[in-house]
Amino acid sequence: MSAKRHLLIVYHSQTGSTRQMADAVIRGARHPDIDGVEVRVVDPLDAGADDLLWADGLILGTPENFGYMSGALKYFLDRVYYPCLEKVDGKPYALFVRAGNDGTGAVNSIQRILKGLALKQVQEPVLVVGEFEDSRLAECEELGMTMAAGLAAGVF
Ligand SMILES: Cc1cc2nc3c(=O)[nH]c(=O)nc-3n(C[C@H](O)[C@H](O)[C@H](O)COP(=O)(O)O)c2cc1C
Repeated sequence: MSAKRHLLIVYHSQTGSTRQMADAVIRGARHPDIDGVEVRVVDPLDAGADDLLWADGLILGTPENFGYMSGALKYFLDRVYYPCLEKVDGKPYALFVRAGNDGTGAVNSIQRILKGLALKQVQEPVLVVGEFEDSRLAECEELGMTMAAGLAAGVF
């Protein structure tokens, strides 16, 4: 039997809206039809370089706060950046972001840092702005499923 591929999901939510998205992403990533992928979900305040080095793929989620990713997610990236530099090149990643009226600052700030780490964005970010339509949860589920299925199939 071949070794499992590893998918790390790190997200932060202060008032629960990003958590709704995360729950859908995790449901997709753990879809029963996908074999051979271990999904690890870690709070950004607890996650560290060992988690990112373990991962074959990464999904990050955050609300936009003050035009940037949340402080908790930034704290995760602050701590893993140098220990993981040149050790995670080419690993695939995807993002989901919840915002009141914008979201681009959160998306851009994460993309800039992950570009520095040489991670490769393999899907368009799911960005939910304003009113939360439940239909957007299907996109979140698909984001998780696509990443896990891609890892399982060796596409990424
Ligand atoms: C401190 C703070 C700063 C925020 N800054 C922004 C912002 O810069 N742009 C924006 O679109 N929404 C902003 N929001 C709105 C949040 O992104 C939005 O309420 C989101 O749904 C919160 O996600 P959560 O429920 O997962 O914490 C801010 C909210 C808070 C609490």
